[in-house]
Amino acid sequence: MFENLNDYPVDPIMIGADYFAQDPRDDKLNLTVGVYQDEHGHTPILQAVKEAERILVETQVSKSYLALTGDAEYCNLIGLDILGSAFGDEWVTAQTSGGAVALRVMADLVAQLPVSPTVWLQTPTYGNYIPILTAAGAKYRGIPYYDRIRSKITFERMLKHLSHAKAGDLFLMQGYCHNPTGADMTADQFDALLNVLDERGVIPWIDLAYLGFAQGWEADSDFARKIADRFDECIICITLSKSFGIYRDRAGALFVKTRPADKSKMQRAVSAIVRSGASHAPDHGPSVVRTIMGDPKLKNMWLDDLETMRLRVRGIRQNIVQTERSNHDADILKYIGSQSGMFSLLPITTEQEHALTRDHGIHVVQGGRVNVARLKPDDISSLINATHDVLGL
Ligand SMILES: Cc1ncc(COP(=O)(O)O)c(C=O)c1O
Repeated sequence: MFENLNDYPVDPIMIGADYFAQDPRDDKLNLTVGVYQDEHGHTPILQAVKEAERILVETQVSKSYLALTGDAEYCNLIGLDILGSAFGDEWVTAQTSGGAVALRVMADLVAQLPVSPTVWLQTPTYGNYIPILTAAGAKYRGIPYYDRIRSKITFERMLKHLSHAKAGDLFLMQGYCHNPTGADMTADQFDALLNVLDERGVIPWIDLAYLGFAQGWEADSDFARKIADRFDECIICITLSKSFGIYRDRAGALFVKTRPADKSKMQRAVSAIVRSGASHAPDHGPSVVRTIMGDPKLKNMWLDDLETMRLRVRGIRQNIVQTERSNHDADILKYIGSQSGMFSLLPITTEQEHALTRDHGIHVVQGGRVNVARLKPDDISSLINATHDVLGL
């Protein structure tokens, strides 16, 4: 039977990790994996997380199942913190295993609607959206978002393509720190996009993965708040993997805003889909988040650490710009300084990308994505020199 298995594609990030492991060079550089690293190359456990874990070990009295949609207190704490007064009774919430499961629950729900809408995606975008939508059987189409060679958002083209969307379709976009481009819409562009979605009756679906890495935790929620304030129906998926540094502990959430008449149906649909897939939410990561969010002292400790991570990534971006200017009197990579989050795309072709790995031992994700948070000070000039070399400068 298993000889009939299809040949499944491997995630480009995993392929990159394999190539990196096989590369015998001592001075190779791995910029593929999407996790934060400190200046020592470690992905640290934040102090507030350690403290919350200690409290949990001492106080947790049961490991019984949670409700299918998880712990209401966890969802409420996150909902209120991120959406403020825009969060209320009209929301159906679920505690999910990271952001990926929140996305998958919603993808299943969309695919199972009697008239299945199209999900419009920014291109390029997070590499797991298409596998998730495909596995769910949801319809999707791409819209140009960013020109890798010109290092610019293709905003007008994105709006133009949205004119093909029908009422009831969905637009899946990201919050700040866009993965993989690092390029975020300006506030004016975001407002213009919301106008178009509103006019066309397209439902916004926002995926928040890097809250706190652009301007700070509070400021980075404003895109989601604007959507939540304005639209009767919208979807918010959240992962706290990055903001709390708890990648493997799987803390995420799904928030769906419905019209009042549809709320109980939505609640049952989300519960049924969770039951047939993830079945129950894992508790540890979300409990850590709930413990931190519910304790002002721990919350401040965590916010300080989040700010440290944000400033480090920002500092690396500035360092790239300054080093290129002082060593090469050039500004090919200047755009990296005004982007945010861990990722940016190098302005290189696929062939140049292969040369970067072959000739310089620099490993990037297919499509030219680099994780700037993995750069140590010495790596910065290596990356710049190699990029200039493959560009023939
Ligand atoms: C944009 C985006 N959304 C969702 C996720 C999924 O996060 P999680 O690991 O919590 O499932 C990621 C992870 O890299 C991401 O970059």
